[in-house]
Amino acid sequence: MEKTFLMVKPDGVQRNLIGEIVSRFERKGFQLVGAKLMNIQSELAEEHYGEHKERPFFGELVDFITSGPVFAMVWQGENVIATARQMMGATNPKDAAPGTIRGDFGLTVGKNVIHGSDSPASAEREIGLFFKDSGVVEYNKLVNEWIY
Ligand code: GTP
Ligand code: MG
Repeated sequence: MEKTFLMVKPDGVQRNLIGEIVSRFERKGFQLVGAKLMNIQSELAEEHYGEHKERPFFGELVDFITSGPVFAMVWQGENVIATARQMMGATNPKDAAPGTIRGDFGLTVGKNVIHGSDSPASAEREIGLFFKDSGVVEYNKLVNEWIY
C-alpha cells in the first residue's frame, strides 16, 4: 500500500493542531503507521530540505523547522501521496482553498503548519530519513473493509 511522510511543523505543534490534523487523515480513511514527536537537528533539516539549498529562504526554513518539536508521521492508503497534498492545500496559505489544512489554519508561507512528501521518490526518501531507526508499524484494520 502507498505510504507518505507528513509532518506537523513547529507552528502546528505550538498551536495545538496535532489532533486536528491527525483526525482529518484518520477520517478520510488513511491509516497511521508511524508517528513521533521529535526535535530536528540541523543536519537532518538540511538533508530533508536539500532541494531548496540554493533558495534565498533556505536558512530561514532550516531555522524554523529546528525551532521546536515537530510531529513526524507515516500514513498509508490508496493514492495517499497526492491526496494528502490536496488536503494540505497550496504551499502559500494565502492561495490555499478553505477546507484545506493550510487554507484553514495558516496565513504565511514561512509558517504553513504541515509538510507532505510531493512524490513517491520523496516519500521513500523522507520516510527513510525520519523513520530509519524506528521503522513503521504494519497492521491490519478491519474498518479497511468498509473503505476499500
Ligand atoms: P513542504 O511540504 O513543506 O515541502 O511544502 P511544499 O512542498 O508545499 O513547498 P516547497 O517544497 O516548495 O517549499 C518548502 C517549504 O519552504 C514550504 O512549505 C514553505 O514553508 C517554505 N517556503 C517556500 N517558499 C518560501 C518563501 O518564499 N519564504 C519562506 N520563508 N519560506 C518559504
Ligand atoms: Mg516540498
